[in-house]
Formats: sequence, C-alpha cells, structure tokens
Amino acid sequence: MCSGLLTVLLTIFLLPSSVPEPLAYKDCGSQSGKLLVLDVSPCPEQPCPLKRGDVYTINTTFVSNVNSKSATAMVHGIIMGVPAPFPISEPDGCKSGLSCPIISGQTYTYLTKLPIKKEYPCIKLVVEWQLQDENNQNLFCWKIPVQITDG
Ligand SMILES: *[C@@H]1O[C@H](CO)[C@@H](O)[C@H](O)[C@H]1NC(C)=O
Repeated sequence: MCSGLLTVLLTIFLLPSSVPEPLAYKDCGSQSGKLLVLDVSPCPEQPCPLKRGDVYTINTTFVSNVNSKSATAMVHGIIMGVPAPFPISEPDGCKSGLSCPIISGQTYTYLTKLPIKKEYPCIKLVVEWQLQDENNQNLFCWKIPVQITDG
C-alpha cells in the first residue's frame, strides 16, 4: 500500500543525482570564432563550488573564423554586476593547448587551470573568460556563475 509513496520519494531523492546537469554557461558573443563546448571540472553542482586552495581544470572547445598568430586570455570576475580584471598565471593561449598560429576553420581545445587562492573571499561571482585573437576580437567568450567556498 505504501509502495506508491515510496516510489515517489525515491524518484524525488534519486533523480537529481542520477541525471548530471550540463554546465549552464552564457555565451557572451564572439566575432572571430564560435564556442562549441565548455567543461569545468570538478563541478558537481551549480553554481560551481570553487574551494579555496584547489585547482580547477577548464576545457573550452571552439572553432576559429580567422587566422591569428596569437591568442590571449582575458578573465574578469563580475561581482554584483561590476567586472574586475582577474589575473591568470598563463594568459598566452598558445601555451594552453592551442597550436599557433590559429587557422580559420579549425577546431581548437583551450585547456587551462584555475587555482583558487586561499585569500579569495567566500563570495558568489560570475567568471567571464575571453580568448582574443591578434586584433583583440573574441575567439570565444563565456560566463559562468561560481561560489567560492571553504570546502
Ligand atoms: C576537452 O573537451 C573536448 C570536447 O568535449 C574533449 O574532446 C577533450 O577530450 C577534452 N580534453 C580534456 C583534456 O579533457
């Protein structure tokens, strides 16, 4: 008699963990390429909890519409709508998995690490990541909400 209720409860509690959600990101537009796939790992739930002291892997797959000798990453942390530059240790995309020069029509995988420093405040913010060609046009641009945590 109670099996109906049990099934409902099991469904409610088991469903969220058995269906991994694709990462919800915003494509903020690009002139020189097209964003195909974004993966941040690990990101077991959303917004991605980023633990202070941990290092995260970011894998962005995009196709270029231009030839470019260089690819330069620019990262911003957007806190309550206000973007602040977020320095990264390796802004050179050509040293982050891309073989340069970038050739129009080719698909590239930009692979980088994001270390979360211990001194970062435990806040929610939006991370905006742009990769720019030699004319400062975006090859891709994405935004994801994250939560910096103490773990
Ligand atoms: C990066 O993502 C692409 C597209 O999903 C995938 O083919 C590739 O294996 C990934 N690379 C790594 C190192 O995870």
